[in-house]
Amino acid sequence: MKKLKIIGGRPLFGEIDISGSKNAALPIIASSILSSGNLILSNVPKLHDVSTMIKLLKTMGASFIDHGDHCLKIEAHSLNNYIASYDLVKTMRASILVLGPLLAKYGEARVSLPGGCAIGARPVNLHINGLRKMGAEINIKEGYIDAKANRLRGATISLETITVTGTANLMMAATLAKGKTLLKNVAIEPEIINLGECLQSMGANIEGLGTRIISIEGVDSLRGHSHEIIPDRIEAATYLIGACVTKGSLKLNKLRIDHLDSVIDLLKKAGAQISFQKNQIDVSLNGDIQPINFSTNPYPGVPTDVQAQFMVLNALADGDSEIKETIFENRLMHVLELQRMGADINLDKNTAYIKGVRKLNAAPVMATDLRASAALVLAGLTAKGETIIDRIYHIDRGYEEIDRKLSQLGAQVLRLDS
Ligand code: EPU
Repeated sequence: MKKLKIIGGRPLFGEIDISGSKNAALPIIASSILSSGNLILSNVPKLHDVSTMIKLLKTMGASFIDHGDHCLKIEAHSLNNYIASYDLVKTMRASILVLGPLLAKYGEARVSLPGGCAIGARPVNLHINGLRKMGAEINIKEGYIDAKANRLRGATISLETITVTGTANLMMAATLAKGKTLLKNVAIEPEIINLGECLQSMGANIEGLGTRIISIEGVDSLRGHSHEIIPDRIEAATYLIGACVTKGSLKLNKLRIDHLDSVIDLLKKAGAQISFQKNQIDVSLNGDIQPINFSTNPYPGVPTDVQAQFMVLNALADGDSEIKETIFENRLMHVLELQRMGADINLDKNTAYIKGVRKLNAAPVMATDLRASAALVLAGLTAKGETIIDRIYHIDRGYEEIDRKLSQLGAQVLRLDS
């Protein structure tokens, strides 16, 4: 099992490019199933989860040509197998994103039910209920979702909770359904808009992207298209927080400032100096970190995917703070590891009460999920001495070449094979 060794205590300095967004790339790759032509994607991040999605589509008969420079051609217009097996789904829950497209295009799909997850139960009932409303016959048998439909038909679906992949699955399914679908209380995350725009360019008839109600008039077929994946706002946020917790100074290129409003607001409250131009941001923090209070929320709120990284910032702040996790019921596992590094954090249900300690100590720690790993990396960068992070495979799911990028910024980071 691979580990990451970090010799901490050095500020991050320098300049890096932000990679393409994992959570935009995954549904957009799945959307290629809907197309009758080829999909050419640019700015595709090189990540383990992206490789898993590619592997999944290959088992269905799709082919991929890597054009280099993060550009990928996908030929997924004539698949011959509509099964997403447990072996793949258990390694990546986002595999559920093939359910809507397979059902819409081929009228059948057999997708393993994703199990529980380190950060919460994460059910997919809203995906299933929505597809049922569109006329699908769905049975759960032997751990699989067995779905069939002659042709999906348009329906009005109100989502009782805002769900990102649920919105993506239903939006993709509706593009080829007969008639009009109204999706209410949908996610408005930038990744959903990026997917919606890709579908529009493929010929889908979608209105209301970026609002809580999307209307989709089904069409008979979708065509091939070229599309660019948006920059990863969570990767960007992680490096921005990294600059602040190490009291460094960074320039990040190739990002979307407008996707980072809630994060930038919090960093300014923490005392960061931030300036930006078009797709570029400069950040630094001198002096004490001011504690910040927040709850996680669907976009445009503070993303749950940066809660763990901000926990490190508050752990090092000059004062007390509270962070409330409202999206996932178990996404505070990193707190126990941060306590091992000397953080003073008390948990009461989904709220963390943090007393800033100004410095953390190096320690061996265990990564429990992707963003928890990112938080431990940030904590390790600030702590003098050697922090060894176990189960680092989590981080390769969502951070492209994190060890290379951090080394480029002056950090001492080494992968260990144990
Ligand atoms: N929910 C239901 N029923 C459903 C679907 C969701 O009750 O059918 C609940 C969930 O249990 C959760 C809430 O709704 O409490 C929101 O979950 P959502 O469905 O939005 O999460 P997701 O689509 O499974 C995506 C990202 C996550 C990110 C969340 C929230 C992808 C591939 N994953 O997950 O990303 O945390 O949205 O923004 O887009 C990560 O990148 O580290 C990550 C976990």
